[in-house]
Amino acid sequence: MSPPALPRLSGRRVLVGVSGSIAAYKAADLVRQLRHAGAEVRVVMTRGATAFVTPLTFEALSAHPVLDSALQTDQGAIGHVELAYWAEALVVAPATAQVLAKLAAGLADDALTTTALSVNGPLLVAPAMESRMWHHPATQHNVATLRDRGAVVVGPARGDLASGRAGDGRLVEPADIVAAVGAALGPGDYAGRVVLVTAGPTAEDLDPVRYLTNRSSGKMGYALAQAAAGRGAEVVLIHGPTALPAPAGVEMVAVRSAQQMHDAVFARRDRADVIIMAAAVADYRPAAVSEQKRKKGDGPLTIAFERTPDILAALGASDFAGTLVGFAAETENIEAYAKDKLARKQCDVICANDVSAGQGFGAEDNHLRLFFKDGRDLDLGRGRKAALAQRILDEVRPA
Ligand code: PMT
Repeated sequence: MSPPALPRLSGRRVLVGVSGSIAAYKAADLVRQLRHAGAEVRVVMTRGATAFVTPLTFEALSAHPVLDSALQTDQGAIGHVELAYWAEALVVAPATAQVLAKLAAGLADDALTTTALSVNGPLLVAPAMESRMWHHPATQHNVATLRDRGAVVVGPARGDLASGRAGDGRLVEPADIVAAVGAALGPGDYAGRVVLVTAGPTAEDLDPVRYLTNRSSGKMGYALAQAAAGRGAEVVLIHGPTALPAPAGVEMVAVRSAQQMHDAVFARRDRADVIIMAAAVADYRPAAVSEQKRKKGDGPLTIAFERTPDILAALGASDFAGTLVGFAAETENIEAYAKDKLARKQCDVICANDVSAGQGFGAEDNHLRLFFKDGRDLDLGRGRKAALAQRILDEVRPA
């Protein structure tokens, strides 16, 4: 029988949970195949699993640190909570009888099971165990409980087992698990939508060697682009100079100045259903760009600046028919300033950052409050940019 065709999982965020079975080595191939299909993969392991395969193997294959303790933190954030919010789906492969029992009972006593309780997306389990363990009424009861709750049970297959006997209990082939992940995730709630995101700073040249810029790293905009791609959108990311890798499955458009960002946005505006302006666009540029390096004099230097185009305001004033989302980075009077921008730039939503306490520019975290043109507002609180990006997409998804 030919293996199932790999689904397209570009940008989908799949968490693989590995538990302690001899079949744990096959999870390494599963991670490889998921990534080959375009998914972003993270791995969480039980202590038992680490006795069969080291976390280092999964770290190398997934290109991310592996969570193997419920007490692990990541730069101050609680590892299992962050992973759970990051994941679109959790696939436990191999799933031992013990892990199935814990998942069915809601027991949370290690990295995998604590994470599992906070994952919102589909749960897939690929059992692997000795045949009698699989057929035991307790295991069958646990599997039925998980199925009733919506979990997808992939396998087990019939064949040679680690015990030397043959029977039911063999982990199914990784390609079958990848196919099941694709089916469980579906096309995503942004399938068929085009999302245009701007990210990062702009750079305004003064002469061939000097320019003005700001502290935006691009992380917020890149997180939005990645999240939208993961949810099935066609994504265009128009970005100023950043040091970040391109998110999978995203069309990248590199620009430098505010004027170039303006032109790139307007050239693609008509394709977009949603435009999210997370870039920190310079408000001013030098009125004249010197063709030669400016020479220093003895006294102080005065440079004349002129306004750059306000891209968001121009979009708001245009006949753009999609959803227009702006950002506002503020250190004080957040609500008043954000509401003023919402009205002045004629947006549907303004995501106001409180950038007064170390979050926002350059940081992994942000603190966001959303203001809607119908007068509603929603405090998303402080969190990782990847998690906040998902929440923003929940709120601005076109009907
Ligand atoms: O990139 P990171 O390090 O992850 O940081 C993220 C961020 C803090 C830069 C991001 O979350 C953010 O707040 N971006 C907007 C910052 C900003 O410049 O805000 P503003 O108040 O100056 O502009 C308001 C809105 O108008 C923004 O959507 C901006 O993109 C847009 N704008 C501003 C000026 C201009 N000339 N044209 C614009 O379109």
